[in-house]
Amino acid sequence: MVSTKAIGWLMIGLILGFFMMGSTVSMVEQSVISVESGIVRINPTGAAGSALVVYHPGVTTFNRDVTYAFAGGLAETGWRCDVTTASPVAPTDLAVFDLLVLVTPTYFNEPARSIAEYVGFLGDLGGLPVELVVTAGTDSRVSSMQLEALIHDANGSVLSILELWQSAPNEAFDGVTDPIEIARRAGSSIDLP
Ligand SMILES: Cc1cc2nc3c(=O)[nH]c(=O)nc-3n(C[C@H](O)[C@H](O)[C@H](O)COP(=O)(O)O)c2cc1C
Repeated sequence: MVSTKAIGWLMIGLILGFFMMGSTVSMVEQSVISVESGIVRINPTGAAGSALVVYHPGVTTFNRDVTYAFAGGLAETGWRCDVTTASPVAPTDLAVFDLLVLVTPTYFNEPARSIAEYVGFLGDLGGLPVELVVTAGTDSRVSSMQLEALIHDANGSVLSILELWQSAPNEAFDGVTDPIEIARRAGSSIDLP
């Protein structure tokens, strides 16, 4: 005979399982969708150069925070930055830009699908300098290599790859290990050849 208490626990387990499955599905969904957004212009009068910064927003605020810190660093050193999310409405005519910055999370060891698709929309980059910022929980190696290969195939010139981790200690950059501060300093260190 099953007690009422046991049935109660079973019901609680089923309800919790249902909600946990729902949130897992939602996280996976957010890793594959592309999010449309407008362009945020930072430092409109910047004369050092013009950068387009394209990112995948992801599940947490980490990629957005990293993106705006990097763009802030660029702006500090005189760059004008247009920041937007990777989607079919993001700019694809890059003739007016001196630099493309791509910021992607790692999902299942790959760059976000929206970023890979966006690179596909661009066609021949004609040697445009591209800075890659690849975030991950703990391991961004494979996704970094994949994104680098996509840029090479599109005839872009990878300046460097900044890898930042949300759940593991980051390698010190200029003596700092906070990933957001690293992103800002890396942005302010961009020097085109
Ligand atoms: C569906 C999903 C898959 C992920 N896969 C990986 C992975 O393969 N390797 C890793 O180090 N981190 C992985 N992460 C962690 C994210 O790359 C990390 O949290 C990233 O810095 C920020 O992305 P987020 O805001 O979408 O979580 C994954 C996260 C999600 C939501």
